[in-house]
Amino acid sequence: MDHYAVIGWPLDQTLSPQIHRLFAESCAEQLTYEALPVAPEALASTLGEFLERPSMRGFNVTVPHKETVMARCAELSEAAREARAVNTVIIERSTRQDPRLIGHNTDGAGLVRDLTDRHGVSLHGAKILMVGAGGAARGACGPLLRAGSGAIHVVNRTQARADALVADLLADKPGESRLQVVTRQALDGASPYDLVINATSAGLDGSVPDLPPAIVAGAFCYDMLYGDDTPFTRWSLAQGARQAAMGLGMLVEQAAEAFFLWRGVRPATDEVFELLS
Ligand code: ATR
Repeated sequence: MDHYAVIGWPLDQTLSPQIHRLFAESCAEQLTYEALPVAPEALASTLGEFLERPSMRGFNVTVPHKETVMARCAELSEAAREARAVNTVIIERSTRQDPRLIGHNTDGAGLVRDLTDRHGVSLHGAKILMVGAGGAARGACGPLLRAGSGAIHVVNRTQARADALVADLLADKPGESRLQVVTRQALDGASPYDLVINATSAGLDGSVPDLPPAIVAGAFCYDMLYGDDTPFTRWSLAQGARQAAMGLGMLVEQAAEAFFLWRGVRPATDEVFELLS
């Protein structure tokens, strides 16, 4: 039987084991998936044990290990390089060489799939406002560009971080003019956006990022956080957003992308999404 896990520290609230067990059941794939709390000082030995255990085929990575594990990977996908973080690792085993870690990041692909397949948002040519310049925003921009977005404007409370994020992503994309920084002031009186994505952690303390209310009117608003509802989805609907959605679907879809990378089978996600909603 093949084995998988999610590693993080602490690892109290992860839904990943439940999601992957449901995927395995529905796809009739024989595997186990466990949540493994791994303290930072135990990471190196845990990775060593994974590599030595032939049935261990891959793992998910969450806070605080995403960057450290990335440094241990022999190969990285484009999305992992862009995000500067891995959330999914394949342990590649062959008779010809020692096992190797191949790092991926499925968060952005999960976001794109949730937006397009679950919520029916057309990304082709869409004008997007990305709010935030941390890891979540970093991982989302590349996949959104590749999905055909017309423009992505990044705004952040600390503008220097938005400048750095955009400069960094553009360094590998010569001639890409669709990704730009927008200042908070420039948003006053700006023309409307099709999609506004909250990639900040503001909602964790109950607040919403500072945005002119008119910017979300008529837009599809997406909060990468999830919960029963979030301050940003509540706020944006009150300002006249066309629709608002939270990140639970992104969580399920990024897991489905990981499952596909590991097993070569794409699980149906609607039932799992409904079950967790
Ligand atoms: P993550 O990896 O989840 O993106 P992060 O790297 O800590 O986390 O980034 C958090 C993001 O949320 C940043 O864009 C942060 O803005 P700053 O760069 O100005 O710190 C943003 N953020 C957090 N709390 C916020 C708040 N109350 N209002 C607006 N933005 C907030």
